[in-house]
Amino acid sequence: KQYRVALIPGDGIGPEVVAEGVKVLKEIEKVDSTVSFSFTEFPWGCEYYLENGKMMDDNALEQLKDYDAIYLGAVGYPGVPDHISLRDLLIKIRKGFDQYVNLRPVTLLHPELTPLKSKAEKDIDMLVIRENSEGEYAGAGEWLFKDKPEEVVLQTGVFSRKGTERIIRHAYEEARKTNRTLTSISKGNALNYSMVFWDQIFEEVGKEYPDVQTYSYLVDAASLYFVSQPERFEVVVTSNLFGDIVTDIGAAITGGLGLATGANINPEKKYPSMFEPVHGSAPDIAGKGVANPIAAIWSVSQMLDFFEMEEWGEAVLTTIKKIIKEGTYLTPDLGGNASTEELGNRFVELLLLE
Ligand code: NAI
Ligand code: MG
Repeated sequence: KQYRVALIPGDGIGPEVVAEGVKVLKEIEKVDSTVSFSFTEFPWGCEYYLENGKMMDDNALEQLKDYDAIYLGAVGYPGVPDHISLRDLLIKIRKGFDQYVNLRPVTLLHPELTPLKSKAEKDIDMLVIRENSEGEYAGAGEWLFKDKPEEVVLQTGVFSRKGTERIIRHAYEEARKTNRTLTSISKGNALNYSMVFWDQIFEEVGKEYPDVQTYSYLVDAASLYFVSQPERFEVVVTSNLFGDIVTDIGAAITGGLGLATGANINPEKKYPSMFEPVHGSAPDIAGKGVANPIAAIWSVSQMLDFFEMEEWGEAVLTTIKKIIKEGTYLTPDLGGNASTEELGNRFVELLLLE
């Protein structure tokens, strides 16, 4: 089968890490005659903005809509306000393509990567499923009496029945399919509309999944447990904002941003899904060739799973564990002195041994 992948390398270290992910896909294509990938690169991002006054073409979604997947590096760079780079590219694609499921694995790949000294790999192995299309990031609100003493700003969370049900149902399905527990993270005691509603839907949908063991935590307690007892969590479902925050805690307990990945999925496959590392463009290390490409390579593993090539997805993940265990080809963020490219080259060697 042939897969068409749209590349948006973006800004800063984005192009550096995407190049290594593409290398992995090309290597798979070489050894597996049943599959081929074609790549089309789109030059969108902050440089494009400075030249053209926009982050991407006006008909960008039209240009992207027939690809099987989008592979994104990162966007954002000093000189362009972050709310423009993020909202006009990333959020536009997530929303425009109804990528309402954000899959963020929080998995410890090697015991030495966690600052939690008493925790082992079996203790930190969860999948956070974050609502990705509405909620607190719906962009709804009002700015009243600007610069007056009675100034008030409203930032409204939007939780539709359709939007809330579909993400919660997706999480129940995942928990059932993989025989894991499901934990909902919310805040029904303080957010007396949105989160009471969320909790109600979590219970309602749960009636259809009596076989799934569930837990429900307030987000503050859940944040504490992420650090003190991460073994409580297997599959987690939560809102857009809470998911954003708890997955950064997740990155902190599993080795940092250089390792964290996230897939933006449109489960119906009506539109392309998007695969990206969680980290940003890292201007502090951009251009130095020292960015860790593992997060971006893990995104490739998620892409392969999404293409139903789970064996390759698994092989990529296993190879990530191997290269970390081997320890000789790691980038400075993991205490090594390899370059982005050296890590990538060693990676494909190890992958072929797999
Ligand atoms: P960042 O993730 O770019 O960097 C935070 C820190 O982590 C930096 O010290 C950086 O060097 C380090 N780091 C990140 N990725 C790394 C990697 N692969 N290897 C080694 N070290 C790595 O976050 P920051 O600095 O808050 O944002 C920089 C820009 O990126 C901003 O313009 C921001 O808006 C944008 N951004 C974009 C995202 C996206 O495109 N999805 C996500 C987060 C931020
Ligand atoms: Mg974030």
